[in-house]
Amino acid sequence: MPIIQSLKSKDLLGVKDLSQDEIHLILETATGFKEVLGRDIKKVPALRGKTVVNLFFEPSTRTKTSFELAEKRLSTDVLNFSVPTSSVVKGESLFDTIKTIEAYGVDFVVIRHSSSGAPDFIARHVRASVINAGDGVHEHPTQALLDAFTIRERKGFFPGLEVAIVGDILHSRVAKSNMQSLSMLGAKVRLIGPPTLMPPHVPEGVRVFYDMDKGLKDVDVIMMLRIQMERQGKGFFPSTQEYYRYWGLNLRRLNSAKKDAIVMHPGPMNRGIEITSEVADSPQSVILDQVTNGIAVRMAVLYLLAAERA
Ligand code: CP
Repeated sequence: MPIIQSLKSKDLLGVKDLSQDEIHLILETATGFKEVLGRDIKKVPALRGKTVVNLFFEPSTRTKTSFELAEKRLSTDVLNFSVPTSSVVKGESLFDTIKTIEAYGVDFVVIRHSSSGAPDFIARHVRASVINAGDGVHEHPTQALLDAFTIRERKGFFPGLEVAIVGDILHSRVAKSNMQSLSMLGAKVRLIGPPTLMPPHVPEGVRVFYDMDKGLKDVDVIMMLRIQMERQGKGFFPSTQEYYRYWGLNLRRLNSAKKDAIVMHPGPMNRGIEITSEVADSPQSVILDQVTNGIAVRMAVLYLLAAERA
């Protein structure tokens, strides 16, 4: 059981701001909400009367829909801000946009933005709780939390668990948040990918492999990453065919990992480039569990941040 009862901050801007106890509290709270989601009536009145605005300046399928479902399951009023039909296209600044929304008296701002640090900027200027739903190449904390929840559900523990994060680490906010959360929980993290897609600084204790077959040997969890074409210039690798040849996860490579290894991917997937359909749709894949668990974990984050403000 977690030894704390609440989060210390009004916002969730990154895993960097969470303690190990706070992560355990979020996972434990999400377990309760997952039970609620299995009922006939999947809704609780926990946040009735609260208002959430979802501000997505970048495309999203999973994060946006699961936040919206989480908010509705908690009985909040939900405002989905549509960037393409807003005054942002007329040049309104992020500051003026957020101050306008704050004037409606919202309690939570969920934000995805292509600029690293945009959620931190907003959090400094509004009274509402700000939740980072992915900012540039910086952090994606709720993805790391739902990944931890999924790993705990399947493996039951973290200390000593061998987790390989594979692919475009350099441009991945998912990898950066996961490296921090998994290391904090006691897992042994290794990174696998081409030298051109490795970050210049790797946290202490995290091992780096440039050879996929060696890197996957005896791992418990394989976390594949999407190649972030939209954040890359040219020249990180010669071609997608070449990328698949050296870094793609197929059934032969999966055999290097432990027999009961699980395969994860935050999505969206580039099938046939970073992962084959045989692996993505195999019994070892927990990719759709990650999607399902996103709702319970985001409910837990909203609920605990509301408790912090009460
Ligand atoms: N994992 C993730 O962030 O997916 P979306 O971009 O679809 O939200």
